[in-house]
Amino acid sequence: MKILFIGDVVSSPGRDMVQKYLPQLKQKYKPTLTIINGENAAGGKGITEKIYRQFLEWGAQAVTLGNHTWHHKDIFEFIDQAKYLVRPANFPEGNPGVGLVYLQVNALEVAIINLQGRTFLPSIDCPFRKADELIKEAKKRTPFIFVDFHAEATSEKQAMGWYLDGRVSAVVGTHTHVQTADDRILEKGTAYITDVGMTGPYDGILGVEQDAVLKKFLTELPVRFEVVKDGRNQLNGVFIDLDPKTGKANSIKRILINDDHPFFT
Ligand SMILES: [Fe+2]
Repeated sequence: MKILFIGDVVSSPGRDMVQKYLPQLKQKYKPTLTIINGENAAGGKGITEKIYRQFLEWGAQAVTLGNHTWHHKDIFEFIDQAKYLVRPANFPEGNPGVGLVYLQVNALEVAIINLQGRTFLPSIDCPFRKADELIKEAKKRTPFIFVDFHAEATSEKQAMGWYLDGRVSAVVGTHTHVQTADDRILEKGTAYITDVGMTGPYDGILGVEQDAVLKKFLTELPVRFEVVKDGRNQLNGVFIDLDPKTGKANSIKRILINDDHPFFT
């Protein structure tokens, strides 16, 4: 089982990168499953039905979300019909959508879980206890369990990695938009990275126009953050190879495509 995961796709620059590079990445890595974090895909915040469908057309089998899940009203119209859209499972009970999706990949079934951290983010339900609950359920069906942990704090993400080590196939961090160089296999066989990084503008500040962010830091006046529209772009992801019998990770490899790290086929 080979999983290609693409980190936080930001607005149209990010979507353009997915459209351009996903076919080439598929050719190079030959993943059996491709997952995209699309929580910044529509104008930098949230996702629309059109974009969700585009991702599936372009070759993703599932789309994960995060703290901007509810940003566009559109989401409430389609989330309950979107079978391959996964929002943080620890949102309050009764929220629309689901936080655990099962996917059939060839003869195997994979469980995809999305969780959101609580450090420097809204104080939703406990992601650790929610993980326990969902893993217990998923284990009855499959040893292949993939977790996208959408969180701000490195410590919370590392804690989740160790907490789930040996119980899931992979814990990948998203949300902070800068790829971390700590991709590794934890002691009991779980693939881990603190943050996969983002896909979108390369010269902005986490994807946002530099000027607005600088004005905020320098003046503390209210500013409007806009995604960088023109300029150089990047794609960040990871490629994870899982043992086809045990679901444990054989390897995890960072993918970074930008002008300083050009893509080689
Ligand atoms: Fe986020």
